[in-house]
Amino acid sequence: MVTLKIRQNGSILVEGEDVKLVDWNGNEYYLPQKPFALCRCGQSKERPFCDSTHKLCAFQAAEPAPGPRVPPPDAPTTT
Ligand code: FES
Repeated sequence: MVTLKIRQNGSILVEGEDVKLVDWNGNEYYLPQKPFALCRCGQSKERPFCDSTHKLCAFQAAEPAPGPRVPPPDAPTTT
């Protein structure tokens, strides 16, 4: 399973095994490390990856997911 975690005022953290990141042509990016973070502020010099520039530009984005949380797939079910 791959998880994309929206960081408050920051990047998107991509966690999981067997992750592949491709561009609009289907060309694959080399992933220097796992997990890795994608830029959300648009200011990174390493796009699509985050280089922490968001901290310097005071990027603000803190919208939590709405509604009830989705339980993890391995959570016990209540019947
Ligand atoms: S979100 Fe980190 S540099 Fe853009």
